[in-house]
Amino acid sequence: MAQLWGGRFTKETDQLVYDFNASITYDQKFYRQDIRGSIAHVTMLAKQGILTEAERDEIIRGLQGILEDVQSGALKITEEYEDIHSFVEANLIERIGDTGKKLHTGRSRNDQVALDMKLYTRDEIQELDRRLKDLLEVLLRIMKEEIHTYMPGFTHLQKAQPVTVSHHFGAYFEMFKRDRGRLADIKKRMNTCPLGAGALAGTTYPLDREYTAGLLEFDSATLNSMDSVSDRDYLIELLSALSTVMMHLSRFCEEIILWNSNEYQFVEIDDAYSTGSSIMPQKKNPDIAELVRGKTGRVYGALVTLLTTMKGIPLAYNKDMQEDKELTFDAIDTVKGCLTLFTGMIDTMEFKRENMEASAKNGFTNATDAADYLVNHGVPFRDAHGIVGQLVLRCIEKGISLDDLSLEEYKSISPVFEEDIYEAISMKTCVEKRMTLGAPGAAVMEQVIAREEAYLQEEA
Ligand code: ARG
Repeated sequence: MAQLWGGRFTKETDQLVYDFNASITYDQKFYRQDIRGSIAHVTMLAKQGILTEAERDEIIRGLQGILEDVQSGALKITEEYEDIHSFVEANLIERIGDTGKKLHTGRSRNDQVALDMKLYTRDEIQELDRRLKDLLEVLLRIMKEEIHTYMPGFTHLQKAQPVTVSHHFGAYFEMFKRDRGRLADIKKRMNTCPLGAGALAGTTYPLDREYTAGLLEFDSATLNSMDSVSDRDYLIELLSALSTVMMHLSRFCEEIILWNSNEYQFVEIDDAYSTGSSIMPQKKNPDIAELVRGKTGRVYGALVTLLTTMKGIPLAYNKDMQEDKELTFDAIDTVKGCLTLFTGMIDTMEFKRENMEASAKNGFTNATDAADYLVNHGVPFRDAHGIVGQLVLRCIEKGISLDDLSLEEYKSISPVFEEDIYEAISMKTCVEKRMTLGAPGAAVMEQVIAREEAYLQEEA
């Protein structure tokens, strides 16, 4: 047991208590951030004359040595330390002797851990954003390529009106774009430095908190020391944003699972992203899509867990807050993994264009356009709706689509129909005529794609 405290104790900590309390198995994940924070702290202490420059240099050299050795594997982070802060401090003292004992001047583990978690979260937000951007680039490529790939658009999972693959993927583009926006908002709001808040009430040393904040690329120092050590709002916001990312991925996965099924055959997931069955030789299962959909549950779970953990905690720091880490780390790693796998899966997925178009035709997705044809020839919409309803019924009886009805049959229900009805209800016409901003028509889709492309080129 290597602890940073013990002076006022007369008995050893019970081993079970020690183990229950320790966080080294998971807070070692932010050893880099812990060392970075300590370097900034001693730099500020020296500027304020609290440490000498020689002490500062010695400590920084020691900390850099620890960082290098942990990175290279020469120094192992082991469970004999209570947490990552104890590990770094104990190793520093071992390396440089008594000067190392000055590192923790004007600091508490409460503000230290608040800082480490913020630094870690900020780095991970950047990585999550990068992966979301990779996904958007693949989506945009598909949107460009499939601008004329007609498919049924659905409401109530019933075929409704024809759209294109480009348009359908464009809907997800908007969702993931908003997800990036949420991450950027969180980063903006959380970007204040808690270091210097001490245990809860600041310190008596003349710290320059704004200086430390600047060294660590924060916009400013936090303004209330009690809030500084007990604020976990940004983690709740992050878990909420990550839950939304997973909700989007999960909806997309559900569609891909359907589209990849024998019944739809709209897409084929690449062999590299599918798995087989141990008993049924014919199977090629969309396990990746299912797993991403399934993992949504654990990210939602993390959000609800942290909200619940935080709900009854009085000011300021309480040990409950240590519970923020494992679930946040797990949620971040889960989302990063899901984003990468999902992006690879759709990047390699094949679109069965003919099946998609045939499905749109066979589902009467052009029925609204047939009614509009009549309206354009002077028939009131309500009557046109009834006429096309009768035509659809006739098609259902015959097992054919509106495109396959003869002109005589059209005319037998309404004399208004002429040869140009076929052109008017072709998938091409139905889609390309829809040219309001945001609709699937190729002309407007191209404008939207150009805007999305410009958005991706802006550096976030
Ligand atoms: N491991 C602790 C955490 O994650 C660090 C802060 C410990 N502070 C304390 N007063 N016990 O929250």
